[in-house]
Amino acid sequence: MKNNEHEFNQLLSAIIKTTHFVKTEVIQTLWSGYGEIARFETVEPDLDKFSNGPDMTFVVKHINPPVIQQHPRGWSGTISHQRKLASYDVEAEFYQHWANKTKPFCALPQFIGQASLSQSCLSSKMIVMSDLDREGFPTRLTTVSAENSKICLRWLARFHALNMQHDPLDNWPNKLWPIGTYWHLATRAKEFDAMEKGPLKDAAVELDKRLNNCRYKTLVHGDAKIANFCFSNDLAHVAAVDFQYIGGGCGIKDVVYFLGSCLDETTLERQFEQLIDDYFTELHTALCLFQSAFSRREIEKEWRPLVNIAWADFERFLAGWAPLHAKRTTFSHRLTVAAIATLNK
Ligand SMILES: Nc1ncnc2c1ncn2[C@@H]1O[C@H](COP(=O)(O)OP(=O)(O)O)[C@@H](O)[C@H]1O
Ligand SMILES: [Mg+2]
Repeated sequence: MKNNEHEFNQLLSAIIKTTHFVKTEVIQTLWSGYGEIARFETVEPDLDKFSNGPDMTFVVKHINPPVIQQHPRGWSGTISHQRKLASYDVEAEFYQHWANKTKPFCALPQFIGQASLSQSCLSSKMIVMSDLDREGFPTRLTTVSAENSKICLRWLARFHALNMQHDPLDNWPNKLWPIGTYWHLATRAKEFDAMEKGPLKDAAVELDKRLNNCRYKTLVHGDAKIANFCFSNDLAHVAAVDFQYIGGGCGIKDVVYFLGSCLDETTLERQFEQLIDDYFTELHTALCLFQSAFSRREIEKEWRPLVNIAWADFERFLAGWAPLHAKRTTFSHRLTVAAIATLNK
């Protein structure tokens, strides 16, 4: 057995408190060969360590960046590589310190444990969590109807209500990203430079500023696309995964990114405004549920004008990253133009 495999098994045994387990399925390899996410099963029928019962299954996100990228002249110095590594630290931090207290209100995997591996590279680690398929969320979708998107809007609204802040302290949200999402301007200089000259590029700094300067801030999931939600078979319940870009920000950033990720242009044309209304209704319900001190009215007053701004801000990312992206539709252009027009008022 290779050294790092041995270390992996040892650390995993310590976390799940048995040496008897098997990997049953690689669910997915991580982006650019940074590791894999896999399903495991304990094989001792009499062991009942966790609530799942004797044949417990669990999921391990094993981050194991390619060795070449650790080379001094490799990619290790690049911004995107460092950011990727930091994002796994943030995700592990979220699972360790935030996930289990969030779970009763917004479904997500239960945190079981985490460990750093020393063998292959310094940034190698594992996050061990419960298996959402076993917890009633076995369905994955790539698109949804407007109707079915509402359950995700509810998840987001609850998550935002639960973590709502007004003028948060400088150190909030601790070791999560100070600004959540993977596309915000400060981290996308290369894409910004690649943008063609024009009104969107001219407006980029101001769009970003408007979003960052909002006073009601919450935790944004940061990559709330449809692929990062796991559904119950009847699509009535949903859980979220993939918290690498979680951090502070205006909740609307999650909402517009989510709707853009799963609805086609025609549906967006017809239903976008209604779905934004639905989100605010869910936010209100959730704030009441959590007996929040914050008023929906005040939050909505600040966040509504940020809907088009947040849309345009993501469009700014696409314009630099993949100018010919299919999501750059007429609808998207219309919202972007509308957002830019509000900046000078
Ligand atoms: N705890 C879990 N239980 C069941 N499925 C999971 C779990 N965590 C992740 N998955 C599945 O694996 C996929 C990839 O995981 P994710 O954390 O999103 O990795 P990546 O960063 O590569 O996108 C998810 O989209 C989801 O379908
Ligand atoms: Mg993912």
